Amino acid sequence: MKEKPWSGRFSQETDALVEEFTQSVSVDANLYAQDIEGSIAHACMLHSVGFLTDAERDAIVDGLGAILNDIEEGVFEFDPALEDVHMNIEDELTRRIGEAGGKLHTARSRNDQVATDFRLYVRDSLEEILRLLRDFLTGLLDKAEAHVDTIIPGMTHLQHAQPVSFAHHLLAYVEMFLRDHDRFEDCMRRLNLCPLGSAALAGTPHPIDRFLTSDALGFDGPCNNSIDAVSDRDFACEALFCASLAMMHLSRLAEEIIVWNSKPYSFVELPDAYCTGSSIMPQKKNPDVAELVRGKVGGVYGGLVALLTTMKALPLAYNRDMQEDKKPVMEGLDTLMMCIEAMTGLVGGMEMNREALEKSLGEGFITATDVADYLAAQGVPFREAHRVTGVMVSDLIARGRTLADLSADDFRKYSDAFEDDIVEAVTPENSVDRRTSFGGTARENVSRMILGARARIEDLGD
Ligand code: ARG
Repeated sequence: MKEKPWSGRFSQETDALVEEFTQSVSVDANLYAQDIEGSIAHACMLHSVGFLTDAERDAIVDGLGAILNDIEEGVFEFDPALEDVHMNIEDELTRRIGEAGGKLHTARSRNDQVATDFRLYVRDSLEEILRLLRDFLTGLLDKAEAHVDTIIPGMTHLQHAQPVSFAHHLLAYVEMFLRDHDRFEDCMRRLNLCPLGSAALAGTPHPIDRFLTSDALGFDGPCNNSIDAVSDRDFACEALFCASLAMMHLSRLAEEIIVWNSKPYSFVELPDAYCTGSSIMPQKKNPDVAELVRGKVGGVYGGLVALLTTMKALPLAYNRDMQEDKKPVMEGLDTLMMCIEAMTGLVGGMEMNREALEKSLGEGFITATDVADYLAAQGVPFREAHRVTGVMVSDLIARGRTLADLSADDFRKYSDAFEDDIVEAVTPENSVDRRTSFGGTARENVSRMILGARARIEDLGD
């Protein structure tokens, strides 16, 4: 069995159960690339300040490079007896290069090491998420551009409310995911400080240069306080919160797609490649991708609550509780990435069923508000206009008719403020196009909003 780096103080071997209980390598082996990157930066800094000779630095850098290679080739064996990724890699390095390997841990501890590795890992994941969000936003916008003239029943309480351009509806999601992008970037800004060189918690007597290490790792600077540096996991909580919110947004879109795809609506046709069938009912084509996106939200929220709870009331500085931080974050961020990609494909391949939409727009008195708005524009107080329209709707329901069945004279039976153009005013197209207020659904507005959104999306990532 390999000797533990801390075995000097111990006279008993670690109990097998405790070994299994305390190991984290089954999870944090995922940090191998960041761990090696951090160690190389640390070694180069130790060399710059005169602590390592050229030969020692070269041996460390080459040795770590070779280990990285072996891990990526799948020929490196992580040993749970060595607890975590940090000790596994350092132990192997020392085995391969001898004494120089033992000098690498000067002026650092696993506490600042893991905090650094984890920040680098989350930063890499957020960069990928930002890229996926930009692709998704572009996809949503392309879909919107193709559907400025597609009118759908806008809903409140999941009931017909007012007609809107489908592009306008999609632009609502563009706003949400632009906010998500912004939030992740903001999270990245606070995350991007380097803990390395804080050592266990108090700093180090060695004449190190933390700015050098920070620069080498692409951080904006070293964390200011060595105690905070090793005990802070705000960046992980924030990343998971941002992921939770993005998952919530995805789940709302997923839910709408499920509803639109359900038989009573049939507003959309989903791509076969993004649906699955039933093992018993041959006619079924289920929106499983959307359902799974909706279902996976729970796990991401759960991870956020788990992490917040792990961190709650932890005294400063490092406590082993914090080892539980990685799994929820890794899983949550991975889940979000998959969900964004899946939704990008689903939305991209979604076709609108114009016939079903037209039929649906004819139901539910969806332009009743236009009748009231028409009267209000003629000078009738809106409350009175609302009452008159309500009476009209109630009569039409009793007679099994709709607003589209009425002539101008029919309208005038309810109010002499109606003129001949009322008949035109209650078509879904006119209902949409009259809503020219800023942010409203008029098609000319929506086309302008698409141009604006395109520019905002193109500016992202600069
Ligand atoms: N595996 C540990 C973690 O993930 C690394 C830090 C351990 N530090 C310590 N003093 N036990 O948190």
